Amino acid sequence: MNKFFSIKDVDDIYKIIDESIFIKKNPFYFKTIGKNKTIGLVFFNPSLRTRISCQKAAFHLGCNIWILDINNDSWKIEMNDGNIMKNTQEHIKEAISVMSLYCDILAVRTFPNLLDKNYDYEEIFFKKILLYSRVPVVNLESATLHPLQSLADIITIAEHSSFFKKKCKVVLSWAPHIKSLPQSVANSLVQWISKIKEIDFIITHPKGYELCKKYSKNVQIEFDQKKAFKNADFIYAKNWSSYSDYGKVIINDFNWIVNMEKMKLTNNAKFMHCLPVRRNMVVKDDVLDSELSIVLEQSENRIYAAQIIFLKILQSL
Ligand code: CP
Repeated sequence: MNKFFSIKDVDDIYKIIDESIFIKKNPFYFKTIGKNKTIGLVFFNPSLRTRISCQKAAFHLGCNIWILDINNDSWKIEMNDGNIMKNTQEHIKEAISVMSLYCDILAVRTFPNLLDKNYDYEEIFFKKILLYSRVPVVNLESATLHPLQSLADIITIAEHSSFFKKKCKVVLSWAPHIKSLPQSVANSLVQWISKIKEIDFIITHPKGYELCKKYSKNVQIEFDQKKAFKNADFIYAKNWSSYSDYGKVIINDFNWIVNMEKMKLTNNAKFMHCLPVRRNMVVKDDVLDSELSIVLEQSENRIYAAQIIFLKILQSL
């Protein structure tokens, strides 16, 4: 693997899930492969899980790791070409090129601006990172995709369905939020889940929150949340802002919160969320604190999602 931007960089999704579960059981199996190798993690946006799970994954592989929170610990970065840099101190061209000289894998997080749909959905920012880096790049969440999260989610679903032995129903449910959030978790989840033929997948959201057709065109949409929840085995709650009215919170219907009454409509479904989650806005405490919730397992699997990707890249260096 020479980069990890999206599911398109993975040859066989079933195999990579299987391999992830193997390294979860044997985290130090490849403990020498990272000897004398360095992974650089660069954050243009905040993180808890991504940052620490990648650190832990690197530790399992015997890698060195450095982390840069660019907004707080570095120079103000210029993104545009040709500008007179009056208010910025370092151009993205030098910043990424230099950082890539200091590591063997460069992993980067860059959220969307949620103002310019074309800029975000063309992944202009991340394309610059891919262009200027001299080493393989890993996507720690870009403007439109969060593939490490999706890999961790799909590992978690595999573990709870005896590796998809029986067909299961997964519902991605839009949930209310007071802020405009990216569509990246939802887009990515659709991409990954659509590859698993044993999963019956439905998205439920209020009208106006349709995801970009590029991702959702073959997915069943149900505007009635309670109908969607019927017989579900997994409820994945996530807020995202409007794609059509780009980046806007067009309606904020707090009736879309996930509560125990709705969970009772399901097939004793597990509750999923990528975290961080706003309690009693997205999901009620009693669901999150119940045995139905597998959010911590998802977070734990972030380690093995990162580890399998780092491993595959290290193996190809
Ligand atoms: N789920 C996730 O990516 O968490 P962080 O934003 O804390 O990294």
